[in-house]
Amino acid sequence: MTIKAVRGTRDLLPPETALWNRVEQAARDVFALYNFSEIRTPIFEDTQLFARGVGESTDIVSKEMYTWEDRARAQSEKAQSLTLRPENTAGVVRAYIEHKLWERPGLQKLYYIGPQFRRERPQKGRYRQFYQIGAEVIGPPTAGSESPARDAEVLEMLVTLLNRLGVKDWTLQLNSVGSPSNRPAFNEALRQALNGVVDRMCADCQRRAVTNPLRVFDCKVPEDQPIIDTLPRISGFLDEADRIHFDQVQEILKATAVPFVINDRLVRGLDYYTRTAFEFTQGSLGAQNAILGGGRYDGLSESLGGPKAPGIGFAIGEDRFVMALAADERSTVPNSEPQAYIAPLGDGMNVQAAKLARELRSAGIRTELGDETFRLKKSFETAEKMGIRNVVIVGENEVASGQFAVKDVTSGEQKIVSRADVEKLVAQPSKS
Ligand code: HAM
Repeated sequence: MTIKAVRGTRDLLPPETALWNRVEQAARDVFALYNFSEIRTPIFEDTQLFARGVGESTDIVSKEMYTWEDRARAQSEKAQSLTLRPENTAGVVRAYIEHKLWERPGLQKLYYIGPQFRRERPQKGRYRQFYQIGAEVIGPPTAGSESPARDAEVLEMLVTLLNRLGVKDWTLQLNSVGSPSNRPAFNEALRQALNGVVDRMCADCQRRAVTNPLRVFDCKVPEDQPIIDTLPRISGFLDEADRIHFDQVQEILKATAVPFVINDRLVRGLDYYTRTAFEFTQGSLGAQNAILGGGRYDGLSESLGGPKAPGIGFAIGEDRFVMALAADERSTVPNSEPQAYIAPLGDGMNVQAAKLARELRSAGIRTELGDETFRLKKSFETAEKMGIRNVVIVGENEVASGQFAVKDVTSGEQKIVSRADVEKLVAQPSKS
């Protein structure tokens, strides 16, 4: 029996990986403009980090984590429960606390790119190993971490990135989920409203109604939606300070021409959110249409045993982002870089061909190297199939005379040029 990639995981192959790299490079470039720096945290962490950070009653922690017991090797060592990270915000905040990053000047503006793991039911745009590009702004309140200016700046940065990559047809959905202090009153109102209706809802909602009623808004079961539509909204429970904060975020977004819609049902599936919460959806993606999500998490550091360190961030679902781009044909860039195929001709010519290849490559020419056992016809055909226009023939005569035959496999034309001119000829941009 052959072994296949595990359900919910997949291989990313060329040429699609070029698109992934383009997205990641654009993200790095845009993040640098906004003065963010990269952080890399481990792919697995202590299970408690996610239980406490993301929340026990969330779908992620209660159903979707890859968790295992790391057995003690020595008697003195305790066994530890470990989990593949289902998201990266908790890891970043753990690192912030562990390395006392608040001692550094200003705010910590950190970004990450990497795989995350959730045991969800796989479908288009939903994987068990998926990739996120995310960023977090976190720091002490005295450094301005609570300011609505940070929320607006992060959202405006995202729009810059979407525009730079030419992502079309997106919608920014915005909400405020208020502060922990007004959560009890909201939960109480929600519990009361759920009282008479919850037995008509799905099993998950029945559980949520008891453990954490806010999570009822995560429900995707179509039959439950009309009931959820009648429930009280968190927006009705914001206190004065939350409302002012949310108004100020919106004011800056309007001033910087960032379009948004208010979605007062949006609560996001992680427990750490406070105040601003948002998602960007994209039109071409179907059911899994959230290309990115994020929000504020003003109490997360404290819940992990750290100092007060309000923060805001987001994570882009890179799989979905690439899918949205690939749906748009203009994003598949033809390869117009200078290229050459070197065809060694006859015994012993691999040595000479290797020397020429090294020189062309050091001159910045993307070079494919053939083999002396190939007939010329085979070399021409291979180059053509690979989309490489120029084939440089390296035979005994060429090496002796210093004159090389360069065949253009698209036109069939062959030129004899000096060694120095080989580089110039193949470096010319392709006409096609
Ligand atoms: P999240 O909404 O759970 O937020 O995930 C962010 C994005 O990751 C989603 O909008 C989606 O595009 C993508 N995503 C999630 N699950 C999958 C999956 N199974 N397959 C493919 N893509 C997926 C977070 O993870 C928060 N840490 C974001 C954040 C950062 N909030 C504040 N800072």
